[in-house]
Amino acid sequence: MRVRSAVLVLVAAAAVAAAAFWFMTAPQPLSAAVLPDKPGDAAKGERLFWAGGCASCHAAPGAAGDDLLKLSGGVAITSPFGTFHAPNISPDKAHGIGNWSTLDFINAMKRGIAPDGSHLYPAFPYTSYQRMTVPDLLDLKAYLDTLPTDATANQPHDLPFPFSIRRGIGLWKLLYLDGETFKPDPAKSEAVNHGAYLVEGPGHCNECHTPRTALGGLDRSQALGGAPDPSGKGRVPDITSGPGGLGDWSAGDIASALETGFTPDFDSIGGTMAEVQRNMAKLPAADREAIGEYLKQVPPVAASKP
Ligand code: HEC
Ligand code: HEC
Repeated sequence: MRVRSAVLVLVAAAAVAAAAFWFMTAPQPLSAAVLPDKPGDAAKGERLFWAGGCASCHAAPGAAGDDLLKLSGGVAITSPFGTFHAPNISPDKAHGIGNWSTLDFINAMKRGIAPDGSHLYPAFPYTSYQRMTVPDLLDLKAYLDTLPTDATANQPHDLPFPFSIRRGIGLWKLLYLDGETFKPDPAKSEAVNHGAYLVEGPGHCNECHTPRTALGGLDRSQALGGAPDPSGKGRVPDITSGPGGLGDWSAGDIASALETGFTPDFDSIGGTMAEVQRNMAKLPAADREAIGEYLKQVPPVAASKP
């Protein structure tokens, strides 16, 4: 009898835990009420496409020139949790996102949710893209709609259990996805706010320059203070205004490095930053200058060593 009641208690506890898991991991999509009634502007969206570096993950590996606009997917992204394969996001209706509504797209970018309601993995850097405004996302979607279709099928990710269970990402999101859109600081200039938006939102600079916790979330107390390189070799540098970061660089030096790929010491920018820099070079000069002005205002972090 005692054994039986203990079993019942365990079964009940497991049911409560399962219900709590189900409840806590439920996707929280945005409703159509967020949509403005004006259509997106593809020309403006092109600028966000380069700022967002979408081609770096979603074009075929090694793509260059016009092939960067063919978003067939295929780049493998290695992480401590397994290997992700960037999917096809071309306007192909069968293999890409050609059948997605604008709201589907906004939910992917701001909430990390696919149209069927499942959670997307944060290897897709929506922890940064969530900061983008809805009108900007409409523009970006309008631009993506103009790109060539491609019929490459998606490759499944290579993830061990429990990371293979998408539902669990709901718990991770409770810790690391706040759903906030970027808010300009009225005390700062328009250029600094524009730079902050590009860095924190589309540019997703934190995804490489900010260290991560053991659970793979961004440790925002060390924002932009440098981090181990995900490739396992070396470090992604500190780009705060501190002595271990860009303390000796002027805002103009930063803008020019993003344009030319050369640091003020005439070193060439390499590693994974080379591709980011090539994307940044496609932006109007004012965007790079704004990024320079903002980074010169980012406070050094405690770990920022000279
Ligand atoms: C660092 C690499 C990376 C970058 C940069 C990136 N993505 Fe992705 N993206 C991914 C990965 C990986 C997935 C797959 C996530 C999953 O399966 O849960 C993905 C998924 C998506 C999806 C969902 C597709 C589907 O079939 O479910 C969309 C939409 C998307 N990305 C759009 C974009 C856009 C737009 C940009 C640029 C603003 C962008 N991504 C930049 C890696 C990236
Ligand atoms: C995909 C990862 C990644 C992303 C995203 C990224 N960076 Fe970098 N960044 C790097 C790496 C790696 C280096 C070191 C390059 C080297 O060793 O040549 C670097 C170097 C730099 C440098 C040169 C610093 C120095 O001390 O030499 C600047 C400036 C910089 N990044 C700015 C940015 C900005 C601004 C953004 C966002 C728009 C950004 N990065 C996004 C990986 C990244």
